[in-house]
Amino acid sequence: MPIDPHLRAQLEAHLEFFTELGAEGTSRDAAWRFDAGRRARAEEAPRPRVDEAAAPTRVDVPARSTDVDVALPTTTLFDVGDAVRPPRETLEDIRGDIGDCTRCKLCGLGRSQIVFGVGSPIADLMFVGEAPGYEEDVQGIPFVGRAGQLLTKIIEAMGMRREDVYIANVIKCRPPENRNPEADEVGTCEPFLFRQIDVIQPKVIVALGTFAAQCLLKTSAPISKLRGRVFPYRGAKLVPTFHPAYLLRSPDKKRDCWEDMKGVMALLRSHGILLSGS
Ligand code: URA
Repeated sequence: MPIDPHLRAQLEAHLEFFTELGAEGTSRDAAWRFDAGRRARAEEAPRPRVDEAAAPTRVDVPARSTDVDVALPTTTLFDVGDAVRPPRETLEDIRGDIGDCTRCKLCGLGRSQIVFGVGSPIADLMFVGEAPGYEEDVQGIPFVGRAGQLLTKIIEAMGMRREDVYIANVIKCRPPENRNPEADEVGTCEPFLFRQIDVIQPKVIVALGTFAAQCLLKTSAPISKLRGRVFPYRGAKLVPTFHPAYLLRSPDKKRDCWEDMKGVMALLRSHGILLSGS
């Protein structure tokens, strides 16, 4: 039977993308698909209540092994301990608290709206980027420009959908000319991200690019030194990888990113999350 040319082109693009990522093989096993039904069960499960939000503090300690068996080595750069959140806080509470924020100078430097975050409030996997760009500022949604489209492809290559994960940025307002966020802006904005993390309680957090990785881990180490390692972080495992915008400029690095994502998939599987039959 002849294949619909549009479908054929889509399939070709998909396979080409997998090849670019260095992804090998595929599976007809149902377990290859992300088990979205698991979320409903997860929502019913009681979550430990903790009393106080912890600010990240850097503690350099020797590498140690953890209870998970993943491809990436686990290094403890610092560990902020168990996920913490004020009882019964929700993402809506945090969004309400932010309001039409004027806490830092970015509100007067041309941003049109706050870009809070998008995705499942009970996501096992969270992606954290730097700050909104032009498209994100226009739409009010993180990672919807070219870099965002690549991120969506990466998520789909992992056997998930965008709506299964949560996507946010360290900074909620677009810096002028996409300049790097400044220290005072980070200091003002990052507590909201910490609260988002504590509400969502993801199993794995992927820090996208140097800026997000350095901010979250409170380190000045370059992404090349942080990649390939897993950091305990607010009750989750944090995996640094390249920013999708960097991958657009350096496509040869997509393979490294895919290696990182394979580590992420292994971590998720170690929590019993069904992703891949391979
Ligand atoms: N880059 C980021 O870091 N975040 C976005 O939301 C878009 C591009």
